[in-house]
Amino acid sequence: MLRRMTNLFPDALNTDLVARATSHYTPNYRQTPLFLVRGEGVWVWDRDGKRYLDFIAGIAVNSVGHAHPRLVAAIREQADAVIHVSNLYYNEPALALLDKLGEISFADRVYFGNSGTEANEAALKLARRYQTRVKNAPEKTGVLAFDHSFHGRTYASISVTGQPKYHDGFEPMMAGVHFARFGDLDHVVSTIAGAGGTIGTVIVEPVQCEGGLNMPPPGFLKGLRKVCDQHGIVLIYDEVQTGVGRCAEWWYYEIDAVRPDILTSAKGIGGGVPLGAMLCTDEVAQGWGPGSHASTFGGNPLATRAGLEVLRIIEDEQLLDNAYKVGEALGEGLEALAKRHPEKVADPRGVGLLRGLRVRDEAAAGRVVEAARERGLLLNTVRGGVLRMVPPLIVQKGHVDAALEILDEVLAAS
Ligand SMILES: Cc1ncc(COP(=O)(O)O)c(C=O)c1O
Repeated sequence: MLRRMTNLFPDALNTDLVARATSHYTPNYRQTPLFLVRGEGVWVWDRDGKRYLDFIAGIAVNSVGHAHPRLVAAIREQADAVIHVSNLYYNEPALALLDKLGEISFADRVYFGNSGTEANEAALKLARRYQTRVKNAPEKTGVLAFDHSFHGRTYASISVTGQPKYHDGFEPMMAGVHFARFGDLDHVVSTIAGAGGTIGTVIVEPVQCEGGLNMPPPGFLKGLRKVCDQHGIVLIYDEVQTGVGRCAEWWYYEIDAVRPDILTSAKGIGGGVPLGAMLCTDEVAQGWGPGSHASTFGGNPLATRAGLEVLRIIEDEQLLDNAYKVGEALGEGLEALAKRHPEKVADPRGVGLLRGLRVRDEAAAGRVVEAARERGLLLNTVRGGVLRMVPPLIVQKGHVDAALEILDEVLAAS
């Protein structure tokens, strides 16, 4: 069945629309001059009808692919019943999602927000209040975070983001944040010691995503958990990008059996509908009481019904297994590309369907992305000229082969 294209400007030229967008949006994005009007599975179409293989998936968001019939039906059904009620009242989809999250994670309790940065904001506020009000440690307001991390764009989130470009012109940052080298446990220990007992929270992405798809060295996360336990520090895992099957388990923490106290999720959990969640233990949840934190939209029936359906689809369609199997094929393909074009690309990295390949000439990475797009493949870059591939979890081996072929052509021609 040919689905209807949603084209709100049928007579306008692409260039005119791009000109209008660039002159009227606030100038905080660097957008590709492309309007995407339709999606289906791993494919998206632009307004001229050109089709693209979507290996960026809304930046690791469209976990079950575009227009999954079950997700669309669930959203329709919920919109028909009730879209929003506020947190003055309870709603059933949120409760059902909460049950499901309890089933697939360590969480005793959940707070719902609308994005990754909000989930992190909540996590940082909960951890601090737990230290100051439950542990009676008013001095433990400090946070240890990591160089090259990325946690979002609210003030607390940029304050714990270890990339100065995100602070530029926005200083002063939140006080009491210390940065350690990712993967260097000795540096973690010395930084905590240097802060003189003020660190009450550690926030870490188990795999640094925007920072270059940096994998944790073996034993690092386990060691981090141990250090946190020794010092009574709350450990937050930011799984906004690594969670919900992206790494071929529900959560990255399962891979090396390290249980955080708080975990943040967003991106893939709503399948494209804005939804964030902070998962935590009963112990740290004592840090909050009525009125400690809130969100008007957080946990609304539309978003949580979508989240529930996403998790059910992942389970029913065995997408964790698929992410592992197809992810391995993608990983092997990237290794082969690195061997075929050793002067241009190197260091394939990643896990599951979170994969990257470094372009040696960092300045050329953007041109690779552009040339791939011209050939019908969407991907993007993260820090250090690393090409990022995060296709929907429904992606098949044939799609991976097609993507690798395009990349091979692009690298050969570059
Ligand atoms: C690890 C991580 N944390 C937080 C965020 C921020 O999420 P959002 O853009 O939904 O606020 C991102 C976004 O890229 C992320 O990758």
